[in-house]
Amino acid sequence: MRDFIQALPKIELHLHIEGTLEPGLLFELAQRNNVSIPFKSEAEVRAAYEFNDLQSFLDIYYQGANVLLHEQDFFDLTWAYLLRCRQDNVIHTEIFFDPQTHTERGIAFDTVIAGINRALVQAEAELQITSRLILCFLRHLDEATAFATLELAQPHRDKIVAVGLDSSEKGNPPEKFQRVFARALEAGFLTVAHAGEEGPASYISDSLSLLKVSRIDHGVRCVEDPALVQQLIAERIPLTVCPLSNIKLCVFASMAQHNIVELLRRGLCVTINSDDPAYFGGYMTDNFLAVAAAHAMTPQEIAQFTFNAIDASFTGEHEKQRLRTRVNDALQPPSGK
Ligand code: ADE
Ligand code: ZN
Repeated sequence: MRDFIQALPKIELHLHIEGTLEPGLLFELAQRNNVSIPFKSEAEVRAAYEFNDLQSFLDIYYQGANVLLHEQDFFDLTWAYLLRCRQDNVIHTEIFFDPQTHTERGIAFDTVIAGINRALVQAEAELQITSRLILCFLRHLDEATAFATLELAQPHRDKIVAVGLDSSEKGNPPEKFQRVFARALEAGFLTVAHAGEEGPASYISDSLSLLKVSRIDHGVRCVEDPALVQQLIAERIPLTVCPLSNIKLCVFASMAQHNIVELLRRGLCVTINSDDPAYFGGYMTDNFLAVAAAHAMTPQEIAQFTFNAIDASFTGEHEKQRLRTRVNDALQPPSGK
């Protein structure tokens, strides 16, 4: 099963680029940019990665991002993640970035996107990894700041496929950003939102009805509303689930109690993703392995996560067909004769 999972081509749809900042690169950038960090060693950093909820993680995650100052830093961060994708057989990835985490510190929006985009372009040419970029608004900040961020994104419309909503979910409901999302939709962006990670199932329904999202990030608390589950099945609304993240942030007490396989078997379009792999102890292969270790699944069921992710991705139909062919070829290697 390990070999099957390693070899399976994967599609990632829920990945925060700031969440791929490994302790090694954190130290390197802190030195290069002369930024002081409250850790003496990489081991000390890793020891600090013990979280009891989303907020305890976010506090450390935003602190880590302080070492990112220059275009080259954003390139290096993104390139390191893309090399990790190659190792895990991730052939297409849709990446979140949090511009407000950087613009609030005086880093230009254009600096952030230039570094990330340069790495994505290079990865397509050199690693054959395709990608899309999704701008996330920080939901703990106000509507006016989100509107200002959307304006900064307009000249980069060609590089950004969608807008999303992340950060502290509880107490920051979807309706807070209804007008910003309406403007983003008018401007031609698709929309997604984190919902039902820590927040209630009603945040999932409201993201669908008020923010018109094409998919839900996390969404595991949908099971608290049976009518919502029926809607997700009937309308085939994708959930980008992040198993190791959910364990690290105590959304589920253990992987055995995680509901992702139950959701898959009930016919939901669920996918496996890594969220913030540098903080949660694993990239895509690790997430697949962790789910498979706790839940017996057939190879077909495991591959279904990838087929669901292709259906849910923001690439064009032609590109989706190319991705499906790659997965099918990997599942049925041509006989040697
Ligand atoms: N930002 C980065 N990771 C996040 C998550 N899992 N939930 C909300 N905001 C995030
Ligand atoms: Zn996330």
